[in-house]
Amino acid sequence: MAAQENTLSAGAPIEGADGEAPLHVAIVMDGNGRWAKRRGLPRTVGHQAGVEALKRIVQAAPSLNIRWLTIFGFSTENWSRPVAEVAELMALPQRYFRTDLPRLEREGVRVRVIGRSEGLSRELVKICREAEARTASNDSLYLTIAFNYGGQADIASAAQRFAEEVAAGRAKPGDLTEAKFAEYLSTSDLPPPDLIVRPSGEQRLSNFVLWEAAYAEFVFQDVLWPDYSAEHLKAAIAEYRTRDRRYGAVITDDVLAAG
Ligand code: IPE
Ligand code: MG
Repeated sequence: MAAQENTLSAGAPIEGADGEAPLHVAIVMDGNGRWAKRRGLPRTVGHQAGVEALKRIVQAAPSLNIRWLTIFGFSTENWSRPVAEVAELMALPQRYFRTDLPRLEREGVRVRVIGRSEGLSRELVKICREAEARTASNDSLYLTIAFNYGGQADIASAAQRFAEEVAAGRAKPGDLTEAKFAEYLSTSDLPPPDLIVRPSGEQRLSNFVLWEAAYAEFVFQDVLWPDYSAEHLKAAIAEYRTRDRRYGAVITDDVLAAG
């Protein structure tokens, strides 16, 4: 236990910074079902193993200079899975917070759950709100869990809310810049993700952080989420660090050479 109480204390500089800006890493947890199938186990067991991987990654994140960690737990499209599997997925936040909330609280992790609350049980919403309240003053690692979340749904809600402002006479259509629009998204208090990681071999975004991903780097890894370890995350970040981020511009040397 004591050996694990290491990386976080509120406000402390984050280890492993190497003079580089802290990262916002967003992860599409994927491959739980295949992991279970390979073992001849029900998919639900894969989801349970997936929670253990999440615990490992949240614990490892600060030492990898991650300041914001956003993970995709349940998408608005996951409702179309079999009832028993949906029930297991609905139990995951509770499974996670029950064992890990005291540690998250102690280690300075601020938890936020984004996504639609419609469709979730009152009990589940309460558990999530409680985790947020208990960690509200933490600021070492910002852990955002997207649950019953869809990127398109989030954009549609943002558009609705801005339209309501206009209808109420508090805003004009012409006020809507990209920056203004982003204020209406559920991720408005987060910087855009620098790195989006998807394990399991699938190479798609699946309706995760659509707006926010505009200039994110993508790393796809051939490992199933329940097997995901700090070493895999480290490898993803190493790959990210080799990327040349230009945000649509050209680097000065190119301009000079072309000049
Ligand atoms: C990800 O694993 C779990 C979630 C949906 C949250 P999957 O259940 O998608 O696993 P595969 O893709 O079927 O292997
Ligand atoms: Mg999947």
